[in-house]
Amino acid sequence: MKVAVLGAAGGIGQALSLLLKTQLPVGSELALYDVAPVVPGVAVDLSHIPTAVSVKGYGKDDLASALVGSDIVLIPAGVPRKPGMDRSDLFNINAGIVANLVEAIADNCPNACIGIITNPVNTTVAIAKKVLEKKGVYNKNKLFGVTTLDVIRAETFVAEVHGKNPAEVTVPVIGGHSGTTILPLLSQTGLSFSDEQIEALTKRIQNAGTEVVEAKAGGGSATLSMGQAAARFCLSLVKALQGDNSVVECTYVETDGQDALFFAHPVRLGANGVEEILPYGELSAYEEKAKADMLDGLKNDIQIGLDFVK
Ligand code: NAI
Repeated sequence: MKVAVLGAAGGIGQALSLLLKTQLPVGSELALYDVAPVVPGVAVDLSHIPTAVSVKGYGKDDLASALVGSDIVLIPAGVPRKPGMDRSDLFNINAGIVANLVEAIADNCPNACIGIITNPVNTTVAIAKKVLEKKGVYNKNKLFGVTTLDVIRAETFVAEVHGKNPAEVTVPVIGGHSGTTILPLLSQTGLSFSDEQIEALTKRIQNAGTEVVEAKAGGGSATLSMGQAAARFCLSLVKALQGDNSVVECTYVETDGQDALFFAHPVRLGANGVEEILPYGELSAYEEKAKADMLDGLKNDIQIGLDFVK
Protein backbone atom coordinates (compact mmCIF):
# COMPACT_ATOMS: atom_id res chain seq x y z
CA MET A 1 0.00 0.00 0.00
CA LYS A 2 1.20 3.47 -0.82
CA VAL A 3 -0.54 6.30 1.05
CA ALA A 4 0.11 9.94 0.14
CA VAL A 5 -0.71 12.74 2.57
CA LEU A 6 -1.04 16.16 0.89
CA GLY A 7 -0.56 18.92 3.47
CA ALA A 8 1.54 16.58 5.59
CA ALA A 9 3.46 19.32 7.42
CA GLY A 10 0.33 20.86 8.94
CA GLY A 11 -1.35 20.22 12.25
CA ILE A 12 -3.54 17.41 10.93
CA GLY A 13 -0.96 16.19 8.45
CA GLN A 14 1.74 15.62 11.08
CA ALA A 15 -0.58 13.88 13.58
CA LEU A 16 -2.03 11.73 10.81
CA SER A 17 1.37 10.84 9.39
CA LEU A 18 2.63 9.80 12.83
CA LEU A 19 -0.34 7.47 13.32
CA LEU A 20 0.06 6.01 9.84
CA LYS A 21 3.81 5.48 10.33
CA THR A 22 3.04 3.42 13.44
CA GLN A 23 -0.09 1.62 12.19
CA LEU A 24 0.05 0.97 8.44
CA PRO A 25 0.71 -2.67 7.52
CA VAL A 26 4.29 -3.90 7.20
CA GLY A 27 5.81 -2.94 3.86
CA SER A 28 3.62 0.13 3.25
CA GLU A 29 4.93 3.37 1.83
CA LEU A 30 4.03 6.80 3.17
CA ALA A 31 4.53 9.82 0.86
CA LEU A 32 4.41 13.18 2.62
CA TYR A 33 3.81 16.24 0.44
CA ASP A 34 3.52 19.87 1.47
CA VAL A 35 4.38 23.31 0.12
CA ALA A 36 5.94 24.17 3.51
CA PRO A 37 9.73 23.76 3.47
CA VAL A 38 9.67 21.77 6.70
CA VAL A 39 8.16 18.68 5.04
CA PRO A 40 11.44 16.80 4.34
CA GLY A 41 12.23 17.27 8.04
CA VAL A 42 8.88 15.85 9.10
CA ALA A 43 9.64 12.80 6.96
CA VAL A 44 13.16 12.36 8.39
CA ASP A 45 11.78 12.75 11.92
CA LEU A 46 9.14 10.06 11.34
CA SER A 47 11.62 7.78 9.57
CA HIS A 48 13.45 7.24 12.89
CA ILE A 49 10.42 5.40 14.31
CA PRO A 50 11.16 1.68 14.03
CA THR A 51 8.27 0.33 11.95
CA ALA A 52 8.40 -1.39 8.56
CA VAL A 53 6.71 1.55 6.83
CA SER A 54 8.94 3.67 4.59
CA VAL A 55 8.48 7.45 4.72
CA LYS A 56 9.57 10.00 2.16
CA GLY A 57 9.04 13.77 2.10
CA TYR A 58 8.23 15.69 -1.10
CA GLY A 59 8.57 19.45 -1.43
CA LYS A 60 6.43 21.79 -3.47
CA ASP A 61 7.88 20.86 -6.88
CA ASP A 62 7.61 17.12 -6.28
CA LEU A 63 3.85 16.55 -6.18
CA ALA A 64 3.86 14.14 -9.14
CA SER A 65 6.52 11.89 -7.58
CA ALA A 66 4.64 11.89 -4.27
CA LEU A 67 1.48 10.71 -6.02
CA VAL A 68 2.68 8.13 -8.56
CA GLY A 69 1.68 4.62 -7.46
CA SER A 70 -0.52 5.79 -4.56
CA ASP A 71 -3.44 3.59 -3.55
CA ILE A 72 -4.86 6.18 -1.15
CA VAL A 73 -4.43 9.96 -1.14
CA LEU A 74 -5.52 11.95 1.91
CA ILE A 75 -5.87 15.73 1.60
CA PRO A 76 -5.61 17.87 4.73
CA ALA A 77 -3.95 20.77 2.82
CA GLY A 78 -5.34 24.27 3.29
CA VAL A 79 -6.13 26.84 5.93
CA PRO A 80 -8.04 26.02 9.13
CA ARG A 81 -10.66 28.16 10.94
CA LYS A 82 -10.02 30.92 13.42
CA PRO A 83 -12.55 31.97 16.10
CA GLY A 84 -15.66 33.58 14.56
CA MET A 85 -15.19 31.78 11.23
CA ASP A 86 -17.58 29.36 9.65
CA ARG A 87 -16.21 26.46 7.56
CA SER A 88 -17.59 28.16 4.44
CA ASP A 89 -15.31 31.17 5.14
CA LEU A 90 -12.41 28.90 4.11
CA PHE A 91 -13.83 28.37 0.64
CA ASN A 92 -11.95 31.14 -1.18
CA ILE A 93 -8.53 29.75 -0.30
CA ASN A 94 -9.18 26.05 0.05
CA ALA A 95 -11.28 25.51 -3.09
CA GLY A 96 -8.35 26.31 -5.38
CA ILE A 97 -5.91 24.24 -3.31
CA VAL A 98 -8.15 21.16 -3.49
CA ALA A 99 -8.85 21.63 -7.21
CA ASN A 100 -5.11 21.81 -8.02
CA LEU A 101 -4.21 18.81 -5.88
CA VAL A 102 -7.03 16.68 -7.30
CA GLU A 103 -5.97 17.60 -10.83
CA ALA A 104 -2.52 16.24 -10.03
CA ILE A 105 -4.09 13.06 -8.61
CA ALA A 106 -6.01 12.61 -11.88
CA ASP A 107 -2.74 12.93 -13.81
CA ASN A 108 -0.54 10.75 -11.60
CA CYS A 109 -2.65 8.15 -9.75
CA PRO A 110 -6.15 8.24 -11.29
CA ASN A 111 -7.16 4.95 -9.63
CA ALA A 112 -6.36 6.02 -6.08
CA CYS A 113 -9.00 6.36 -3.37
CA ILE A 114 -9.17 10.03 -2.35
CA GLY A 115 -10.09 11.17 1.16
CA ILE A 116 -10.82 14.90 1.39
CA ILE A 117 -10.31 16.45 4.81
CA THR A 118 -9.93 20.10 3.72
CA ASN A 119 -12.91 22.24 4.68
CA PRO A 120 -15.55 23.09 3.72
CA VAL A 121 -15.87 19.33 3.08
CA ASN A 122 -19.52 19.72 1.94
CA THR A 123 -18.18 21.75 -0.98
CA THR A 124 -14.58 20.58 -1.57
CA VAL A 125 -15.71 17.01 -2.32
CA ALA A 126 -18.04 18.34 -5.05
CA ILE A 127 -15.10 20.30 -6.47
CA ALA A 128 -13.04 17.10 -6.57
CA LYS A 129 -15.81 15.27 -8.41
CA LYS A 130 -15.95 17.94 -11.13
CA VAL A 131 -12.16 18.10 -11.55
CA LEU A 132 -11.97 14.30 -11.89
CA GLU A 133 -14.89 14.29 -14.35
CA LYS A 134 -13.18 16.93 -16.47
CA LYS A 135 -10.11 14.71 -16.57
CA GLY A 136 -12.29 11.70 -17.49
CA VAL A 137 -11.23 9.64 -14.44
CA TYR A 138 -14.06 10.16 -11.93
CA ASN A 139 -15.03 7.02 -10.01
CA LYS A 140 -17.67 7.77 -7.40
CA ASN A 141 -16.66 4.69 -5.44
CA LYS A 142 -13.24 6.17 -4.77
CA LEU A 143 -14.01 9.72 -3.63
CA PHE A 144 -14.72 10.28 0.07
CA GLY A 145 -15.28 13.26 2.33
CA VAL A 146 -13.70 12.32 5.64
CA THR A 147 -16.41 12.83 8.27
CA THR A 148 -14.95 10.35 10.77
CA LEU A 149 -14.23 13.16 13.24
CA ASP A 150 -17.98 13.66 13.69
CA VAL A 151 -18.28 9.93 14.40
CA ILE A 152 -15.50 9.78 16.98
CA ARG A 153 -16.82 12.90 18.70
CA ALA A 154 -20.30 11.38 18.83
CA GLU A 155 -18.88 8.15 20.28
CA THR A 156 -16.92 10.10 22.91
CA PHE A 157 -19.77 12.36 24.03
CA VAL A 158 -22.39 9.59 24.08
CA ALA A 159 -20.04 7.38 26.11
CA GLU A 160 -19.52 10.26 28.58
CA VAL A 161 -23.27 10.72 29.07
CA HIS A 162 -23.82 6.98 29.61
CA GLY A 163 -20.63 6.33 31.61
CA LYS A 164 -19.50 3.78 29.02
CA ASN A 165 -16.22 2.84 27.39
CA PRO A 166 -16.29 4.78 24.06
CA ALA A 167 -14.90 1.70 22.30
CA GLU A 168 -18.23 -0.02 22.99
CA VAL A 169 -20.36 2.80 21.55
CA THR A 170 -21.37 3.09 17.89
CA VAL A 171 -23.05 6.24 16.57
CA PRO A 172 -23.78 6.58 12.87
CA VAL A 173 -23.46 10.20 11.70
CA ILE A 174 -25.08 11.11 8.39
CA GLY A 175 -25.48 14.26 6.27
CA GLY A 176 -22.60 16.65 5.77
CA HIS A 177 -19.71 18.11 7.75
CA SER A 178 -20.70 21.54 9.04
CA GLY A 179 -23.15 22.84 11.62
CA THR A 180 -26.65 21.40 11.35
CA THR A 181 -25.73 19.28 8.30
CA ILE A 182 -23.96 16.97 10.79
CA LEU A 183 -26.69 14.57 11.91
CA PRO A 184 -25.81 12.01 14.60
CA LEU A 185 -28.35 9.17 14.80
CA LEU A 186 -28.67 8.76 18.54
CA SER A 187 -31.80 6.66 17.94
CA GLN A 188 -29.57 3.93 16.49
CA THR A 189 -27.13 3.57 19.36
CA GLY A 190 -29.21 1.06 21.30
CA LEU A 191 -29.07 3.50 24.24
CA SER A 192 -31.85 5.62 25.65
CA PHE A 193 -31.78 9.39 26.02
CA SER A 194 -34.18 12.01 27.34
CA ASP A 195 -35.36 14.68 24.89
CA GLU A 196 -33.06 17.18 26.65
CA GLN A 197 -30.09 14.83 26.27
CA ILE A 198 -30.83 14.33 22.56
CA GLU A 199 -30.99 18.08 22.01
CA ALA A 200 -27.83 18.78 24.02
CA LEU A 201 -25.78 15.91 22.52
CA THR A 202 -26.81 16.70 18.96
CA LYS A 203 -25.85 20.37 19.39
CA ARG A 204 -22.54 19.45 21.06
CA ILE A 205 -21.58 17.05 18.25
CA GLN A 206 -22.52 19.67 15.62
CA ASN A 207 -20.54 22.42 17.37
CA ALA A 208 -17.60 20.35 18.59
CA GLY A 209 -15.30 21.81 15.95
CA THR A 210 -16.09 25.31 17.17
CA GLU A 211 -15.45 24.16 20.76
CA VAL A 212 -11.87 23.34 19.70
CA VAL A 213 -11.42 26.49 17.57
CA GLU A 214 -12.44 28.67 20.53
CA ALA A 215 -10.32 26.76 23.04
CA LYS A 216 -7.27 27.13 20.76
CA ALA A 217 -8.03 30.89 20.65
CA GLY A 218 -6.69 31.63 17.18
CA GLY A 219 -4.20 28.76 17.10
CA GLY A 220 -6.21 26.70 14.62
CA SER A 221 -8.85 23.98 14.67
CA ALA A 222 -8.93 20.29 15.59
CA THR A 223 -5.68 18.61 14.55
CA LEU A 224 -4.97 15.75 16.98
CA SER A 225 -8.49 14.30 17.10
CA MET A 226 -8.74 14.87 13.33
CA GLY A 227 -5.42 13.07 12.84
CA GLN A 228 -6.85 10.12 14.77
CA ALA A 229 -10.12 10.25 12.81
CA ALA A 230 -8.35 10.34 9.44
CA ALA A 231 -6.02 7.52 10.49
CA ARG A 232 -9.02 5.39 11.48
CA PHE A 233 -10.65 6.07 8.12
CA CYS A 234 -7.45 5.37 6.19
CA LEU A 235 -6.71 2.13 8.06
CA SER A 236 -10.29 0.95 7.41
CA LEU A 237 -9.79 1.71 3.73
CA VAL A 238 -6.46 -0.15 3.69
CA LYS A 239 -8.11 -3.22 5.21
CA ALA A 240 -10.89 -3.05 2.64
CA LEU A 241 -8.54 -2.55 -0.31
CA GLN A 242 -6.62 -5.59 0.87
CA GLY A 243 -9.76 -7.72 0.52
CA ASP A 244 -11.75 -7.43 3.76
CA ASN A 245 -15.21 -6.46 2.55
CA SER A 246 -16.86 -6.29 5.97
CA VAL A 247 -15.49 -2.87 6.92
CA VAL A 248 -18.14 -0.19 7.51
CA GLU A 249 -17.44 3.52 8.07
CA CYS A 250 -19.68 6.57 7.83
CA THR A 251 -18.33 8.80 5.07
CA TYR A 252 -19.53 11.54 2.71
CA VAL A 253 -19.97 9.95 -0.71
CA GLU A 254 -21.92 10.42 -3.93
CA THR A 255 -25.32 8.77 -3.53
CA ASP A 256 -28.35 8.21 -5.75
CA GLY A 257 -29.38 11.73 -4.74
CA GLN A 258 -32.34 10.74 -2.59
CA ASP A 259 -31.28 13.23 0.09
CA ALA A 260 -28.53 15.18 -1.67
CA LEU A 261 -25.96 14.34 -4.35
CA PHE A 262 -23.34 13.89 -1.62
CA PHE A 263 -24.46 12.61 1.75
CA ALA A 264 -22.63 10.85 4.57
CA HIS A 265 -23.93 7.31 5.02
CA PRO A 266 -22.67 4.15 6.62
CA VAL A 267 -20.71 2.63 3.73
CA ARG A 268 -19.37 -0.90 3.32
CA LEU A 269 -15.88 -0.63 1.90
CA GLY A 270 -14.13 -3.21 -0.25
CA ALA A 271 -11.36 -3.78 -2.77
CA ASN A 272 -12.82 -1.14 -5.10
CA GLY A 273 -13.59 1.53 -2.53
CA VAL A 274 -17.32 1.88 -1.87
CA GLU A 275 -18.75 -1.63 -2.07
CA GLU A 276 -22.23 -0.69 -0.89
CA ILE A 277 -23.92 2.42 0.48
CA LEU A 278 -25.90 1.08 3.40
CA PRO A 279 -29.30 2.51 4.27
CA TYR A 280 -29.22 4.61 7.43
CA GLY A 281 -32.45 3.02 8.61
CA GLU A 282 -35.44 4.54 10.30
CA LEU A 283 -34.98 7.98 11.85
CA SER A 284 -36.68 9.30 14.97
CA ALA A 285 -39.10 12.21 14.52
CA TYR A 286 -36.37 14.54 15.87
CA GLU A 287 -33.83 13.25 13.34
CA GLU A 288 -36.34 13.38 10.44
CA LYS A 289 -37.01 17.04 11.18
CA ALA A 290 -33.32 17.84 11.59
CA LYS A 291 -32.62 16.21 8.23
CA ALA A 292 -35.46 18.03 6.47
CA ASP A 293 -34.32 21.36 7.94
CA MET A 294 -30.70 21.04 6.79
CA LEU A 295 -31.07 19.55 3.30
CA ASP A 296 -31.40 22.84 1.40
CA GLY A 297 -28.25 24.17 3.05
CA LEU A 298 -26.29 21.04 2.22
CA LYS A 299 -27.50 21.04 -1.39
CA ASN A 300 -26.45 24.68 -1.69
CA ASP A 301 -22.96 23.86 -0.34
CA ILE A 302 -22.65 21.08 -2.93
CA GLN A 303 -23.85 23.32 -5.77
CA ILE A 304 -21.21 25.93 -4.91
CA GLY A 305 -18.57 23.22 -5.37
CA LEU A 306 -20.02 21.98 -8.67
CA ASP A 307 -20.21 25.54 -10.00
CA PHE A 308 -16.63 26.32 -8.97
CA VAL A 309 -15.18 24.09 -11.70
CA LYS A 310 -16.06 25.47 -15.10
P1 NAI B 1 -2.55 23.70 9.04
O1 NAI B 1 -2.50 25.13 8.62
O2 NAI B 1 -1.92 23.31 10.32
O3 NAI B 1 -1.94 22.79 7.88
C1 NAI B 1 -2.29 22.92 6.55
C2 NAI B 1 -1.09 22.49 5.73
O4 NAI B 1 -1.47 22.54 4.35
C3 NAI B 1 0.14 23.41 5.91
O5 NAI B 1 1.28 22.64 6.23
C4 NAI B 1 0.28 24.07 4.55
O6 NAI B 1 1.63 24.33 4.20
C5 NAI B 1 -0.33 23.01 3.66
N1 NAI B 1 -0.73 23.50 2.34
C6 NAI B 1 -1.31 24.67 2.01
N2 NAI B 1 -1.48 24.73 0.68
C7 NAI B 1 -1.01 23.57 0.16
C8 NAI B 1 -0.92 23.03 -1.14
N3 NAI B 1 -1.35 23.69 -2.20
N4 NAI B 1 -0.37 21.81 -1.26
C9 NAI B 1 0.07 21.11 -0.18
N5 NAI B 1 0.00 21.57 1.06
C10 NAI B 1 -0.54 22.78 1.24
O7 NAI B 1 -4.12 23.30 9.02
P2 NAI B 1 -4.79 22.01 9.71
O8 NAI B 1 -5.23 22.36 11.06
O9 NAI B 1 -3.94 20.84 9.48
O10 NAI B 1 -6.14 21.91 8.81
C11 NAI B 1 -6.10 21.58 7.45
C12 NAI B 1 -7.50 21.55 6.85
O11 NAI B 1 -8.30 20.53 7.45
C13 NAI B 1 -8.29 22.85 7.04
O12 NAI B 1 -8.98 23.13 5.85
C14 NAI B 1 -9.28 22.50 8.13
O13 NAI B 1 -10.45 23.28 8.08
C15 NAI B 1 -9.59 21.06 7.78
N6 NAI B 1 -10.18 20.28 8.87
C16 NAI B 1 -11.07 19.30 8.51
C17 NAI B 1 -11.70 18.55 9.47
C18 NAI B 1 -12.66 17.48 9.07
O14 NAI B 1 -13.36 16.94 9.94
N7 NAI B 1 -12.77 17.10 7.81
C19 NAI B 1 -11.44 18.76 10.90
C20 NAI B 1 -10.46 19.77 11.17
C21 NAI B 1 -9.88 20.52 10.17
